[in-house]
Parts: sequence; C-alpha cells; structure tokens
Amino acid sequence: MTKPVTGQQKRKKLAILISGRGSNMLAIADACASGELQADIALVLSNRPDAPGLEFAKTKGIATEAIDHTTFTSRANFDAELQKRLELVNPDWIVLAGFMRILGSVFVERWEGRIINIHPSLLPLYPGLDTHARAIAAGDSEAGASVHLVTSELDAGPVLAQVRVPILSGDTPLELAQRVITHEHTLYVTALKHCVNTPFD
Ligand code: GRF
Repeated sequence: MTKPVTGQQKRKKLAILISGRGSNMLAIADACASGELQADIALVLSNRPDAPGLEFAKTKGIATEAIDHTTFTSRANFDAELQKRLELVNPDWIVLAGFMRILGSVFVERWEGRIINIHPSLLPLYPGLDTHARAIAAGDSEAGASVHLVTSELDAGPVLAQVRVPILSGDTPLELAQRVITHEHTLYVTALKHCVNTPFD
C-alpha cells in the first residue's frame, strides 16, 4: 500500500474505525491505492469482531484489529483501550466510517480536530439514528450525507462537506439509504483530500 513521497507532500496516515459493512472504508482504501488520496490506511479497527468490513480490509492487505466493546465494563474503559491501540499507530487522521460507538470527551480531546465522521443526513438535521426514515416521515424532498469533524457532542461538529440526494415518491428508508451511500463514497474521499492537505504544527 505504501507509495513514495511525491514532491513536498508526505502521505498521511489514516486509522479507520468501523462497526459493519465498511463500504466507505473500501472507497477510501481504493482512493489511497489509486493515488487519488495521498494517504495510507495504517489500521482498520472495529468494535465488532464480526464486522464484514474487517474481512474486506484484509483482502486489501490492510492491517485490522477488533476491540469488542461488549467485553468492557464501561464506555471509558473501552475508549482507553481504543486510545492505547491508536497511540501505537499514531495516525494523522482517525476516520469514522459507520463506527456505531459514541466516543467520550477524553478520547475526543486527545485527538481534537483530527477525527472525522460521515453521517447520513443533511446535518444539522437528524443527528443520531434512523436518519432516512426520519427524513421520509417528515416529508422532506431531499436527504443526503455530511462529513464533519467530531466533537464531544453527537453529530454536532463543524460540517466540512455535504451531498444532497433527492427523496423520491414512495422511497423506503432502505431504498433511500442505497441511493445515498454511493454518494457518500465520493463525498468522503473528496473531504479527506482536503483533510490530508491540512498541515499540522
Ligand atoms: C453510512 O451510511 C454512514 O454514513 C453511517 O454508517 C453507514 C456506514 O456504511 N455513519 P458503511 O459501513 O461504510 O458501508
């Protein structure tokens, strides 16, 4: 996966956190491999050992780990273990891609400004779960996805990029989700291009 440093730009190191299918993670992996994204995925980590995305990452030759959140007695203990693992990797960016755990403020402050998430709604609309069902129930004409920096408040950090997708008459939440997810892949790669070009001090 490692590509040579081009010009002055050093390829950034990503750690991607997932809980499930990992289609956004795969889109990012493809963009890294093609050179579209000047970054490498150092680790894909899941809180669910059976997340299909872990197997997909392995087929791409990407290092994977699982930290099963159900084996921890508190959210803080899980966060501490996650932090320990990530310290070893020392990523430039922590990329949440369908990671279904809320991260506590200690963790978020440790990596402040370097955690990015994709959320399937036009934030600030519909933070939390069941976004597409809520958009349909509200009679909205469009749904979408947002890439945002992660803060301690759920789905409330600064929005970096959004994509708008029409809601069609008769759409089910699943149909809408399937339409939105393809746009998510492009959106996340585009947003990450800007992130990896951000110099840190
Ligand atoms: C995506 O819809 C993302 O916006 C949300 O969780 C879903 C993850 O899908 N946070 P995938 O695992 O990347 O396929």
